Amino acid sequence: MIPDRAQNQLSDWLEQLRWYLWGCREGGLRDWQPYAAKPVEKTQSSDSASAMEKLSRIGVELHECTRCGLHRGRANLVFGEGSAQSGLVFVGEGPGADEDRLGRPFVGRAGKLLDKMIFAIGLDRSRVYICNVVKCRPPENRTPQADETATCAPFLFRQLEALAPKVICALGLSAAQALLGTTEPISRLRGKVLSWRGIPLVCTYHPAYLLRSPQQKAAAWQDLKEVIRLL
Ligand code: URA
Repeated sequence: MIPDRAQNQLSDWLEQLRWYLWGCREGGLRDWQPYAAKPVEKTQSSDSASAMEKLSRIGVELHECTRCGLHRGRANLVFGEGSAQSGLVFVGEGPGADEDRLGRPFVGRAGKLLDKMIFAIGLDRSRVYICNVVKCRPPENRTPQADETATCAPFLFRQLEALAPKVICALGLSAAQALLGTTEPISRLRGKVLSWRGIPLVCTYHPAYLLRSPQQKAAAWQDLKEVIRLL
């Protein structure tokens, strides 16, 4: 009998291996990290310092935010994290329970899958930036309501303007719709390169959805390949 923790660890490794092998297959088994050859960072350190300054100004404005009802249930506001120099930003929907507890984006089960997806393209969390449309956890992890998105999205937009990445990757419907100001379904938004204020935008499935619908991982991998191509 294999203990639960060992089983979890094992399935974690297998998942990691699956994403890695996808990367190898697409990259032609050239390197240990198939897509790591090109630097993803886009700016000089002075640009990165000014991006940091802008981000910290936005962070100060959001401190103890009570602009919408979501603040009532939050333990921590989840601003976003990663490299201010990064050419790649992932945008999710909003914090879940683990994120709310730790004040960091994508640290729960969906976050673990996102880590693997990032690893499969030859990067790691420290080399990308990860944030969400809404910064406080919606109750019971429900989809953010229109007024909550409308209140919080301007801060996301300012984060993206400060970061000025080469590519934005929207994770799931809420992020894609908030960035594009549309109500189109994700099936119509993924599989092509769109644009957010002139920055290439790739929409893909949310990792939480991929955990529930693993058969869609191949499609998500196609989207990640597009991200790599754009980088
Ligand atoms: N889901 C999201 O959309 N964002 C997170 O930070 C975690 C889970």
